[in-house]
Amino acid sequence: MRNNESNMRTKKITKAVFPVAGLGTRFLPATKSIPKEIMTLVDRPLIQYAIDEARAAGIKEFIFVTARGKSALEDYFDHAPELESELRKKGKTELLDILKDTNMDSGAIAYVRQNRALGLGHAVWCARRLIGNEPFAVLLPDDVIAADRPCLQQMVEAHAETGGCMVAAMEVAPQRTSSYGILDIGEDGGTIVRAKGLVEKPRPEDAPSNLAIIGRYILTPKVLTNLNRMKQGAGGEIQLTDAIAEEVDTAAGVHGLRFRGHRYDCGSKIGFLQATVAFGLSRPDLGAEFESFLHELMATQKAAQ
Ligand code: G1P
Repeated sequence: MRNNESNMRTKKITKAVFPVAGLGTRFLPATKSIPKEIMTLVDRPLIQYAIDEARAAGIKEFIFVTARGKSALEDYFDHAPELESELRKKGKTELLDILKDTNMDSGAIAYVRQNRALGLGHAVWCARRLIGNEPFAVLLPDDVIAADRPCLQQMVEAHAETGGCMVAAMEVAPQRTSSYGILDIGEDGGTIVRAKGLVEKPRPEDAPSNLAIIGRYILTPKVLTNLNRMKQGAGGEIQLTDAIAEEVDTAAGVHGLRFRGHRYDCGSKIGFLQATVAFGLSRPDLGAEFESFLHELMATQKAAQ
């Protein structure tokens, strides 16, 4: 057992699951014909931010849990021979370089279908055969995290110390606990917290803390076994949080990492807008012009009030 756990600890994390089967109803009508993960912050789709973060953390195999209507995602990560040859002919090497980031080597990316929307836990479980018996990462592309050192990379480093399961964690407003998985804090080491429980979307009066799970996880394959039981949790869904909670009493346990960075909830309209403004302002090619536009706009609005 001990041996097994220490093997799990030293094993490199090379696989990541991206649950992208959601309908994106909060962004209708836009998501009527495009997957929400293709919606762009400035000029890059949401999914590209998650992929880049995973790559920076050493991920080599990318597993997408998809559903009907998501084929635009598959095309996005494929080569685009006509477009590329056109750009080559015109000598547009900069654009070709930008496109390179979107190409995945053959075999590096795999798609599994989630046929029914039974919850996040179920979505991750759908990838079980591709994950096998090794620790793996999960990234929810709705959570976009701007950080000097990418969030998943911070987690991989912290996980090398703790082993077991790890979630990204952040304090949220106490009245917002019912939108998140919440940690019941066992030991609080500041940056790393050991959890003695996890609760999915508790009402504020029932929440054990206001330390919330943000959509980055490093999980042991045991979590997939726990999901086999298909236990329904909050909202009648099969919750990933519940399957992770079953691991709190193991030797390596479950830890939360208070990551350094700013998280944008791009699953909500306001979060998406905030991210668009912040990412626009931070772009060397656009930031200055965009900033003076925003100043002008604010001044005009104030004057009109
Ligand atoms: C999911 C998880 C939740 C987590 C959240 C982070 O919820 O179930 O535990 O706190 O992501 O964004 P969702 O936002 O998909 O309802």
